[in-house]
Amino acid sequence: MAKLVINNESKKSKIAPEIYGHFSEHLGRCIYEGLYVGENSDIPNVNGMRTDVVEALKEMKIPVLRWPGGCFADEYHWMDGIGPKEKRKKMINTHWGGVVEDNSFGTHEYFELAKQLGCKTYVNANLGSGTVREMSEWVEYMTFNGVSPMADLRKENGHEEPWTVDYLGVGNENWGCGGNMRPTFYADEYRRYQTYVRNYNGAKPISKICCGPNVDDYNWTEKVLETCFDHTPAHFHGFMDGLSLHYYTLPETEGDWNFKGSATNFTEEVFYQTLKRSFYMDELIKRHGAIMDKYDPEKKIGLMVDEWGIWTDVEPGTNPGFLYQQNTMRDALVAGMNLNLFNKHSDRVKMACIAQLINVLQSVMLTDGEKMIKTPTYYVFKMFKDHQDATLLSSELLNNSTVGADKNELPKIFESVSENENGVITITLTNNSLEAAEDIEVVLTKDGAAYNVSAATVVTGKMADHNTFENPEVVKEAEFKDYSKTENGISVKIPACSVLMLQLKK
Ligand code: AHR
Repeated sequence: MAKLVINNESKKSKIAPEIYGHFSEHLGRCIYEGLYVGENSDIPNVNGMRTDVVEALKEMKIPVLRWPGGCFADEYHWMDGIGPKEKRKKMINTHWGGVVEDNSFGTHEYFELAKQLGCKTYVNANLGSGTVREMSEWVEYMTFNGVSPMADLRKENGHEEPWTVDYLGVGNENWGCGGNMRPTFYADEYRRYQTYVRNYNGAKPISKICCGPNVDDYNWTEKVLETCFDHTPAHFHGFMDGLSLHYYTLPETEGDWNFKGSATNFTEEVFYQTLKRSFYMDELIKRHGAIMDKYDPEKKIGLMVDEWGIWTDVEPGTNPGFLYQQNTMRDALVAGMNLNLFNKHSDRVKMACIAQLINVLQSVMLTDGEKMIKTPTYYVFKMFKDHQDATLLSSELLNNSTVGADKNELPKIFESVSENENGVITITLTNNSLEAAEDIEVVLTKDGAAYNVSAATVVTGKMADHNTFENPEVVKEAEFKDYSKTENGISVKIPACSVLMLQLKK
């Protein structure tokens, strides 16, 4: 039996809501079909945004949405996506399937979507193939409330008021698709571009995100920070608010990206291998975080894990450039495990955007024409939503066993615990075992006897269980009853292969 000791007198960092963030790129059917169907579609929509999708995302409490890419961002020229739709340029989406991008979803549509979702905005600007002027004018177009060429153009295009840009990415993956730059070169470019990202009078200051490393490229982190903070103190407000980190879990790849493994057809060994590979996130956060500590010991700059999730082979018969994949209980565990890790590292991790929102990679929803299904990953995000803005509590798992063999061995249970402003304690757990349930004694160090369970839900099933358009509810969030009150807390039996959420209230 494992024991979860929660020290509810030891309050740690605030869990930034943005840890539960999402990413939407002009890739495959993410923007077009997934989010945006156009005003004249038969699919119910408000100003072109799918109503079913918007409603489900609000229910899941989406806190922030990154757009327009990804690799697409460093080839995106924002002026192509404003003005009358029939006059917008048609271009080739060179990265993703070579399809025609008609730019019918642009800046105005993105802010309309964010408004409907009630979420923060994260615009990723083009450093790789754009100019300083282009980036600076986009910021002026979006945020300036006065008379200026770009503000006037926005008004001509029908939007009198400026919008709020909460986050601005200064390039994406500039070590790769964003220009194949070396770290010192990018860092100098970052210094220059970010200078002209203005905070206009009255506008909310924009949080600037610098392009961080790919996976374990510690040299990138070191050199970028060293160059950026040469002659610029790290505490210089507004110079850099975040450093991104991208890490995808490739279930079966052994160096060859053409064979990542199927999303639904995999062995138990591959299941544990996937979880173990995903758990690598912990080491990445610690090691990149340690480098950041040297330049920013007060942890003012967030590590923004703005692309993460499982990346498998595409569903058979679909366009390989569209990255459309199914989503199983394995995805639910990967989501639960990573979200627990992000909570635990919330002193440094200030944002994480799973890739991608809909119809691409590890999505929370899939669509087929007018049909929409929620994936196992969706339910995990929904179950974890009350961690947003809560305070992490110190917690420790005793007698935790391991699962998976040899190189795939990892802890059986992952957990994180937070307390919200009303004193409600949210506990989220994953049981990574495919065979064995686990009895867990949950103990609170203070007033344990006074707490009762106020909500408890679970997502569970077999490792490859997934929802389809024919059977949309094979995996879903269900009420959980297998707990009982004890002297200092509660005792629960978490089923094998499951993600569990418990709330305790006095
Ligand atoms: O999410 C798909 C792609 O993965 C993004 O465009 C890019 O940033 C990353 O390599």
